[in-house]
Amino acid sequence: MAIAIALILLLAGSILFHFLSPWQLTPLASNWGSIDDTIGITFWVTGFVFVAVNVFMAWAIVRYRWRADRRAEYEPENKKLEWWLIGVTTVGIAALLAPGLFVWASYVTVPDDAHEVEVVGQQWHWGFRFPGEDGSFGRVDTRLVTGDNPFGMDASDPAGHDDVLVHGSRVRLPVDRPVKALLRSRDVLHNFQVAQFRAKMDLVPGQLSYLWVTPTRTGEFEILCAELCGIGHFAMRGMVEVVEPEVFEQWLAAQPTYASELARAAPDAAAGKALYTPCAACHGAEGQGNVQMNAPRLAGQDAWYLIRQLEYFKAGARGAHPDDTHGQQMRAFAGMLADRAAMADLAAYVETFPEPPPVISIDGNPQRGARVWRNCGACHGSEGQGLQATQAPRLAGQDDWYLERQLENFRRGIRGRHPGDAYGWQMAEMAKLLRDDDATRDLIAHINTLALAAAPAPADPTALARRTD
Ligand code: CUA
Repeated sequence: MAIAIALILLLAGSILFHFLSPWQLTPLASNWGSIDDTIGITFWVTGFVFVAVNVFMAWAIVRYRWRADRRAEYEPENKKLEWWLIGVTTVGIAALLAPGLFVWASYVTVPDDAHEVEVVGQQWHWGFRFPGEDGSFGRVDTRLVTGDNPFGMDASDPAGHDDVLVHGSRVRLPVDRPVKALLRSRDVLHNFQVAQFRAKMDLVPGQLSYLWVTPTRTGEFEILCAELCGIGHFAMRGMVEVVEPEVFEQWLAAQPTYASELARAAPDAAAGKALYTPCAACHGAEGQGNVQMNAPRLAGQDAWYLIRQLEYFKAGARGAHPDDTHGQQMRAFAGMLADRAAMADLAAYVETFPEPPPVISIDGNPQRGARVWRNCGACHGSEGQGLQATQAPRLAGQDDWYLERQLENFRRGIRGRHPGDAYGWQMAEMAKLLRDDDATRDLIAHINTLALAAAPAPADPTALARRTD
């Protein structure tokens, strides 16, 4: 009897939990209400079976409990009961599967008036490409992918020149207009999912998959990677902003095209030298850094990273936090650079600086730090050399006091929380791995060992050449 009561209590508890649980589906923001209906039908069918089986069990336990005056009967065959069970199960399974088949048929049938966007996934961020004015995408090839050509665009295909390339994990879509998302992966399996759209699909290397959706209300909706794709999987998030069609068109027209990227002149280090003059006062004549001026070392840092940070400072995506006093100083200086070309010239000049030997000022336990480092190395490179593919800058050889301050800023939300900082918030998430100041110092002590291992021997002048791996 006690077991029968326990079963009924569990049953009632489960049903109550289902209806009272705070974890419900997010409010729908797309045309895929039919997917919600299918989920609802699944809950009703499985819920009915769940209730029926448990009530039957409780009833059987009470009705057929042990009594001294009766014995169990052995009945291996019961045609009538079997026909009933086959019939009821068939109806149940058909009710579970049939609606899904209809929904799937419309899920893979893209409406003719859908516009297109390509979604490119890679460890651990998203990129987006729109077909431009000609309405067709240019050819791409994974073999053409480089740090400067993350989409693998084929410059010889004229159809690609008007393609709009969105670097970074934020994209906009117009409301009430069906869109076909073409999905492509640069490395491993990923899965594009927006919970409010109820739509998701795998990205398979070497294959082009797709899904389509009509966003039905404006707002910001998070893009998640729903396929375990390596150590940074949890940080592979993005944002789709659904806006009014006019806002979308304006935004799209303001995005750079592939042609404008191709037209960029090669950076001019000589022009950068003149631009560097105001920087030298704090960062040093050869970018060696100056702790008294709170100015980190620039020598040895990659140009692509310097350009991006200058862009962020100028746009206020970095250094705008009221507690980031040193970042605010940098904002003023970045504002003096006219455009991206000027930043590229400046970064090209910084790349000519010889690399001074690392200066160690922080004490910690590098063995303990090495354990945390395994997470960092996935993006920054195992030797801390920086990887453009993952958009992670070089750390080895960077001033350790600066690393400590930035990790602290990431941990406290002073850096990396601005929506325009496409990669900073990944670091803000990662910095949560550091439980306290000791953990930070241990990690930096390990990065210092990487710097010392990579440091050029002063006697050998060729070793002063920048590490390019
Ligand atoms: Cu990409 Cu998980």
